[in-house]
Amino acid sequence: MAAVPDVQIVAASAALAEAGAQRFVSAAREAAAANGRFTVALSGGGTPRALYALLTQEPFAGQVDWATTHLFWSDERCVPPDDPESNYHMAREALLSHVPIPEGNVHRMRGEAASPPQAAQQYGDELRAVFGKQGLPRFDLLLLGLGEDGHTASLFPGVHVPNDPAILTAAVFVPKVNMWRLTLTLPVLNAAARVLFLVSGAAKAPVLKALVAGPRSLDLPSQRVIPTNGTLTILADRAAAAALNADR
Ligand code: 6PG
Repeated sequence: MAAVPDVQIVAASAALAEAGAQRFVSAAREAAAANGRFTVALSGGGTPRALYALLTQEPFAGQVDWATTHLFWSDERCVPPDDPESNYHMAREALLSHVPIPEGNVHRMRGEAASPPQAAQQYGDELRAVFGKQGLPRFDLLLLGLGEDGHTASLFPGVHVPNDPAILTAAVFVPKVNMWRLTLTLPVLNAAARVLFLVSGAAKAPVLKALVAGPRSLDLPSQRVIPTNGTLTILADRAAAAALNADR
């Protein structure tokens, strides 16, 4: 973790979604003004759903130029896109079905693929097609969640994922959830211009304290998210930040 990540503590989960939506649209406006497009990787799980739903409503929806926005995912479960476990499915229900984003701008990870490694390779090719073949894809905004075990995206403690800048997306079998996953690799996460963690709920208080204030541990994948040339912000609600408050 960077020396001190920018930790923003908000009252409750509703405020978390609002604060996240505000940061989403400001990143979108800055990127569109600077580059003529906005590239963002969505996180999965449950926390970001309320943020995605807010983006379909004013004052947020009208501040994003959806025609030049490119949506990717930080990770995906290896299930069909209509499966309730799919991160794409959650984003489609909460956001994609309600905003005028061109279909070609929605870069879904093929969780349904018979070969997860081939799906990972294909996603890497899709990233290079959008970001260019040289260097690492640099997302304008990359959203991440935090698991109670310290995982983020699908980088789980004790589960090897290549840390090679030539490998942009990896397929990984995660015993803990008994599932294959597709995930952006750490070099891609750390190449982003803005990384935004969304952390909600009392159950995350211990791991958030470990992430922000604990000793460095290679077995805490979320601690290894240290943007090379970008900002790192943690948006947490008061319940998730409870252990932090004790020391700050
Ligand atoms: C996933 C996510 C994962 C998630 C964390 C937090 O596919 O599950 O990418 O990394 O962000 O597990 O999930 P919650 O927000 O549901 O607590």
